[in-house]
Amino acid sequence: MTDEPHQYDLVIAANRLPVDRVVEDDGTSSWGRSPGGLVTAMDSVMQGRRGAWVGWAGEVGEVGEVGEVGEALEPFTEGTMYLRPVPLSSEEVRDYYEGFSNDTLWPIYHDVIVQASFHREWWRSYERVNRRFAEAIAEVAAPEATVWVHDYQLQLVPRMVRELRPDVRIGWFDHIPFPPVELFAQLPWRRAVLEGLLGADFLGFQRVADAQNFVRACRQLLRAPTKNDTVAVTAPDGSTHTARASAIPISIDFQGLDALARTPEVRARAAELRAQLGNPDVLMLGVDRLDYTKGIRHRLKAYEELLRDKAIAPPEVTFVQVATPSRERVDSYRELRTQVERTVGRINGEFAPIGSPAVYYQHRSYPRDEMAALFLAADVMLVTPLRDGMNLVAKEYVTCRHDLGGALVLSEFAGAYHELHQAFVCNPHDIEGLKQTILKAIHTPARDKARIMRALRRRVADHDVNRWAERFLDALAAAPHRPERQERQDRLDQESRLERQEGEDRQDRQDRLLRRDPPDERVRLTQPQRSVHQPSSHDHEGRPSGPRR
Ligand code: ADP
Ligand code: F6P
Repeated sequence: MTDEPHQYDLVIAANRLPVDRVVEDDGTSSWGRSPGGLVTAMDSVMQGRRGAWVGWAGEVGEVGEVGEVGEALEPFTEGTMYLRPVPLSSEEVRDYYEGFSNDTLWPIYHDVIVQASFHREWWRSYERVNRRFAEAIAEVAAPEATVWVHDYQLQLVPRMVRELRPDVRIGWFDHIPFPPVELFAQLPWRRAVLEGLLGADFLGFQRVADAQNFVRACRQLLRAPTKNDTVAVTAPDGSTHTARASAIPISIDFQGLDALARTPEVRARAAELRAQLGNPDVLMLGVDRLDYTKGIRHRLKAYEELLRDKAIAPPEVTFVQVATPSRERVDSYRELRTQVERTVGRINGEFAPIGSPAVYYQHRSYPRDEMAALFLAADVMLVTPLRDGMNLVAKEYVTCRHDLGGALVLSEFAGAYHELHQAFVCNPHDIEGLKQTILKAIHTPARDKARIMRALRRRVADHDVNRWAERFLDALAAAPHRPERQERQDRLDQESRLERQEGEDRQDRQDRLLRRDPPDERVRLTQPQRSVHQPSSHDHEGRPSGPRR
């Protein structure tokens, strides 16, 4: 493979390369896997494919004048991929990445959970960096190549690439939600963002609602003619094309992760982890980037109240929260970290006997096999985002549960809910409801949980990341028309879904009749209920009174 220009028939562009360059204080550097779901998904899609990946290597260039970037890393190859680093100066990391991408767009696209900040300087930096990406793409793309641009950091790139290279086919995939027009309209640069995106031939979204929000924004804010899922685009030079927007939910490498979770090493490590945690009856787990969208505070609040209610108690029940460091220089992320760490300290201080923490808090990254072992070890997985494009962690958890053990508590505000609705579904804003759902996930009989887990696993196995990538690339090739293969597949899916549903409903009715269960019995906290453990010694307020092991 060479680094000659105009070589690659498939070009991926994402803010990050799949690997991050970490420079230590002593000047030595090493490569690590980049954080986040985008890299998890694309990394597995690109295994064995020949193509170029254009992205930032996570390092900060030399400080120079604004607009001046440090020396670029040389392109390099990783497996079959040609990696083309895009350098960012320290000002650009601050203004384009931390600022406009993660302190303007991220909050607006996630329901304004925190206030968005608007700064013209950040916008200028966003434009400048998007142009740099577009130029790098134009350099490496072969004639009539397929260019696949990813995520909210690069929304101006499709149009810029079209201007530079009208011969290539351009797709864009949105890994995060696309907001309703009422929220999107707050963005002072809303027209430029929509026009940038409309440079694409095909735009993929996680949910149908996201695609609809986008088309509606084009209609209402640009007055662009729209028909069903298409938008008619006229560029400033008078050229026209039609862009199509549709939902193609992302997934994971089911086969690869399932195989990893079945290895003797991972199984042994899962058992070892449980033993290290004191062999609890119930091990709960949360795995998230430390991001305010993930609902970590809501989860901790529900957990703390369950401890206070004495519905659960350590060491029989314990909770591991893995919180991956993320965007640590952005104020809202710093504040979240402080709040989470304070809450964890308070919970342990108040409810944990010496030697048996109620919350194990891990602020670090783990290798894939350790993550698989954690998933395999956990009885209850808490995925409680307030808003999330997809949430691959939910899919990874069920993929690791080849034993059909475990229970997934899943927020209805995660994109994953639309595929995994058989999970123990919660609204994380409703703390009382979340507590109920957690207890239900704990107390539902193993046989019922196994049936749920089987259905969840089937969904992820049938809709894995390769199928997602194929669907995206088919849709891009056929745009603005619907690809035939997709039409056929959708019909087949619909038929088999109906058949399965009928079978599962029949099974459900039989099970209920046998058990004489009410249709959806909720666990009542107000009734005295058998807690997972019966504390052997309590002080006069009912708190566990000392070390218990
Ligand atoms: P996001 O893209 O917002 O970070 P996702 O849940 O979609 O959220 O994807 C997160 C990805 O990062 C998953 O593949 C998950 O396994 C991985 N991950 C999260 N936390 C860690 C961690 N501490 N160590 C290693 N991988 C992690
Ligand atoms: O899709 C979510 C996402 O923002 C990706 O774009 C990104 O790679 C990942 O989360 C991690 O975020 P960051 O790149 O800001 O560390």
